[in-house]
Amino acid sequence: TVYPDAREASVKVASDIANLIRARNQIGQNTVLGLATGSTPIRVYSELVRLHKEEGLSFRRVITFNLDEYYPMQPEELQSYVRFMREHLFDHIDIPDEQIHIPDGTLTREEVYEYCAEYERKISEAGGLDVQILGIGRTGHIGFNEPGSIEKTRTRLVTLDELTRADAAPAFFGEEHVPRRAITMGVGTILKAKKIYLMAWGEAKAPIVRRAVEGEISEKVPATFLQKHDNIKVILDEPAASEL
Ligand code: GLP
Repeated sequence: TVYPDAREASVKVASDIANLIRARNQIGQNTVLGLATGSTPIRVYSELVRLHKEEGLSFRRVITFNLDEYYPMQPEELQSYVRFMREHLFDHIDIPDEQIHIPDGTLTREEVYEYCAEYERKISEAGGLDVQILGIGRTGHIGFNEPGSIEKTRTRLVTLDELTRADAAPAFFGEEHVPRRAITMGVGTILKAKKIYLMAWGEAKAPIVRRAVEGEISEKVPATFLQKHDNIKVILDEPAASEL
């Protein structure tokens, strides 16, 4: 679906998520959300915060799993996704801390493998992701599943693509400060979500949006695996859709 602008599109995605949460709240069931960082979902989060504050939308029964985190990364650092999520969402809603999951960038290399397996287990135990929201990187990554990530990948430690590190450089005050690795849910983890929203805004995303939506399915552009999902919505503003 193509919207005139990112704001209107974000309000629509937030409203779909809010409707699901309300429906589940009413019957006393949890909602499991897969969340993303980056500039793309920011307005979805601000709209969810507004719905919480102005319309009493409750997140007490919401369980969240974030897609990824840089590695290594301390939670209080400026660029950490823990900090990002607190600033944009968690500090402003009533979700209990123990229901929030974000990959831990502070682990030792020895701890990571078991931690990632445990992250997958926790998603399953929660009942699986009801909704996963995604942005897309210019490499075609979803989460931090860079080119080369095959369809069955699960949560793991990955090496970031040079283009991704260049795109992240401003936030880190120079490319040399951007971590070389990250922990990310896998393509397979994402594809198991019951519903997926892939969002992209702006002209700079138009070429990769075209490849993701219309290109041949291949690990060269991991986002192309989303074409196989039977309940995905691609939500674009006009500039991002301009090459379709
Ligand atoms: C980062 C995140 C991705 C995100 C991508 C796009 O690499 N790990 O999950 O989709 O950036 O970022 P932006 O939304 O800022 O364009």
